[in-house]
Amino acid sequence: MKHIDVKDIITSKEFIGQSVTVCGWVRTSRNSKSVAFIEVNDGTSLKNVQVVVEKGEGSDYKEPRVGTSIKVTGNVVEGRNNTVEINTTPESITIFGDAPTDYPLQKKGCSLEFLRSIPHLRGRTNTFNAVWRVRSVLAAALHEFFQSNNYVYVNTPLITGSDCEGAGEMFQVTTNGYTTEYKSEEEYYANDFFGKKAGLSVSGQLEGEMAAMAMGKIYTFGPSFRAENSNTPKHLAEFWHIEPEVAFAELDDVIEIAEDMLKFVIGKLLEKCPDEIAFFDAHFEKGLKARLEELISHEFGRVTYTEAIKLLQESGEKFVYPVEWGCDLQTEHERYISEKVFKKAVFVTDYPKEIKSFYMKQNPDGKTVAAVDLLVPGVGEIIGGSEREYDYDKLIAAMKERNMNLDLYSDYLDLRKFGSVPHGGFGLGFERLIMYTTGMANIRDVILFPRTVGSIR
Ligand code: 4AD
Repeated sequence: MKHIDVKDIITSKEFIGQSVTVCGWVRTSRNSKSVAFIEVNDGTSLKNVQVVVEKGEGSDYKEPRVGTSIKVTGNVVEGRNNTVEINTTPESITIFGDAPTDYPLQKKGCSLEFLRSIPHLRGRTNTFNAVWRVRSVLAAALHEFFQSNNYVYVNTPLITGSDCEGAGEMFQVTTNGYTTEYKSEEEYYANDFFGKKAGLSVSGQLEGEMAAMAMGKIYTFGPSFRAENSNTPKHLAEFWHIEPEVAFAELDDVIEIAEDMLKFVIGKLLEKCPDEIAFFDAHFEKGLKARLEELISHEFGRVTYTEAIKLLQESGEKFVYPVEWGCDLQTEHERYISEKVFKKAVFVTDYPKEIKSFYMKQNPDGKTVAAVDLLVPGVGEIIGGSEREYDYDKLIAAMKERNMNLDLYSDYLDLRKFGSVPHGGFGLGFERLIMYTTGMANIRDVILFPRTVGSIR
């Protein structure tokens, strides 16, 4: 169907004086004696195009309802305040689909909670139009960053036989229905589709490492799945994960890549989505634009876990979760460090080995590992990464300490046998990045169809 995007019509003057066709949904509609006004939006822009309908004598013009999908052909003219609008007649309007009065988006200002109950329609609001576009622009910018720095994009498997994080948060993948006929767990899994226990991957890192040991610099960008029983504003059961992995790299290199990557993609976002950022600044987080501009022009903070614990203990704050060396940092701690102490994004490094994963490089102190988390104001952790343990014996020892089944990781262990190199990488939670760059406070509002504990449709 030949038509012009609303975005192109309203952002360029080249269509003035021409006859064009636009398609879209009616956002508002006003009717008066001789003329009617329809605001049309086709999703390509936050802004609508105004259609002015010259009704003429004795017209039987029927005002289209909010939500109706239409096609309009008319002449582009200059409107007020440097805008353009389309002049048309009732005969040049085609209705594709009416929207009866129970269309849920009749009024402006629906709550986010209400909109979560209609995920199939909420993209037609300004808020979600802006979120989905920011998501798309950030995704493209991430690819651009890695592609222009010699990284190879790899696709790691979603179904896997090994748990990367070892946290027991894997969804099981099975074709075996309920039955009591199996005598043991082994027998049950032996009869399953893959002949052994399988699950949805919590991270593409282990396979990413294997690719990096061939291609040098790789990144993944795909979904990860976590059966965490965390009903919080920042946990999803299915989230999108960006995981670069780099050979011949140490922890400082990993940190530098993470900082460069974030500054690049946020810079691109400010350049490509000024209207969306202004919208979020006005409606969701006052000062968002200034905060993002500040972020890309200053160095991120840096602190070790041990120093962070000291800062928390000496803060005089009352935390729900007690703070002592060895504890996992909770969101309240992470936010205190980034919001109150540093007032910006901050890398926390060198965590106790007991609270981190088996694959992290063991530091010479025997107590900590070369891990890094990036904490940001408002959200908490958005990146988790590390230098990897590349010494075969040390890795085996760490896995045995955790009672891991080494057979499941034989490919991974082979990497340490054949030309092992210092290497590292990190995982960026895509939805958390979108929360941080839009000011949206709930992760359910930055993904089309959120999957969370107890909720799927
Ligand atoms: O810190 P995590 O668990 O690290 C890993 O998965 C490593 N294998 C990454 C690597 O080194 N290649 O997760 C990385 C990031 C977190 O910082 C967070 O942003 C996001 O993934 N994340 C989640 N996002 C939404 N919902 C969840 N349930 C998430 N779990 C982790």
